[in-house]
Amino acid sequence: MSDKTPMYREGSAAIESEIKRMTELEWPLEVSAELLPADLKQKTLGDVGAGPNPNLGKLVRFRGGKYVALDSNLTMAKLQVGSENRAVQGDVVALPFADKSLDILHTRFVIMNLPENLRVGAIKELFRCGKENIIMDYNWEKFTSSNPTVLDFVAHARRVAEFAGVDLDHGAKLEGLVQETLLGIAVGVKIFNQGPIRNYSTLVGLTKSMQGLIINLENIEKQRAGQEGRPVNEALLKELDGIKITMEECGKEFAKLATEPDESKVPTFTPPDIVAVTF
Ligand SMILES: C[S@@+](CC[C@H](N)C(=O)[O-])C[C@H]1O[C@@H](n2cnc3c(N)ncnc32)[C@H](O)[C@@H]1O
Repeated sequence: MSDKTPMYREGSAAIESEIKRMTELEWPLEVSAELLPADLKQKTLGDVGAGPNPNLGKLVRFRGGKYVALDSNLTMAKLQVGSENRAVQGDVVALPFADKSLDILHTRFVIMNLPENLRVGAIKELFRCGKENIIMDYNWEKFTSSNPTVLDFVAHARRVAEFAGVDLDHGAKLEGLVQETLLGIAVGVKIFNQGPIRNYSTLVGLTKSMQGLIINLENIEKQRAGQEGRPVNEALLKELDGIKITMEECGKEFAKLATEPDESKVPTFTPPDIVAVTF
């Protein structure tokens, strides 16, 4: 289940920083709030790959609906239960729900993290279970800044994502993939961007998650080499180690910028788009 996605391995190095980062992010909730109906009375919303943040559940209850969180990672599912949300452990490619049993399925930043060969199956499964679906992914194509450290960070994060099988531009492909998978079904598309902004604390969180992900990738390589009885790929480990150092340095500069009182000294950046596809 979550072992398919290197970032979300149970008990791994990345989990703690990812939990912190995902719990602190506010903008994705604002996007979801805009996409969801204002009145959710008599409606049940399933949040697939819900992560640790309890706030979508609160919003759904506030609007009169019922909320069910699902995550393949037991730590995430438990955090949702602890916050009064209903939660189940499950896999987006084999959902434990009957056909069309959820009024709305909400799947944010999950498909882009799945290995490529599982994405079509996940979309079919969401279509099977949800009367309506909202899928959101990031698109990093326009993630830019006049600050060279941001550009350096983006280039190195792209390399890590490549190793991890994460598609940082998946938002740009989402509409086409849903249409291809569901044979020309009509989809709605909305693109959200909050930039240009100076909110460097979100980038600090990202550098920490990237460092955790690199440790996971290094451990996965060592484990695989052991299982396959081959030497570890030293070139890969060396490159990952180098990126880890770059991430640390980017993180330090972002942390300084996050607390800089003089706004004129803080260059803006345009964060990734959030692309939402509804069907
Ligand atoms: C980037 S986080 C997004 C969390 C949340 N949707 C949000 O927007 O804050 C991705 C989440 O998907 C979960 N996940 C990864 N693979 C999954 C799978 N195959 N089935 C269900 N959940 C999965 C991870 O454990 C993680 O909680």
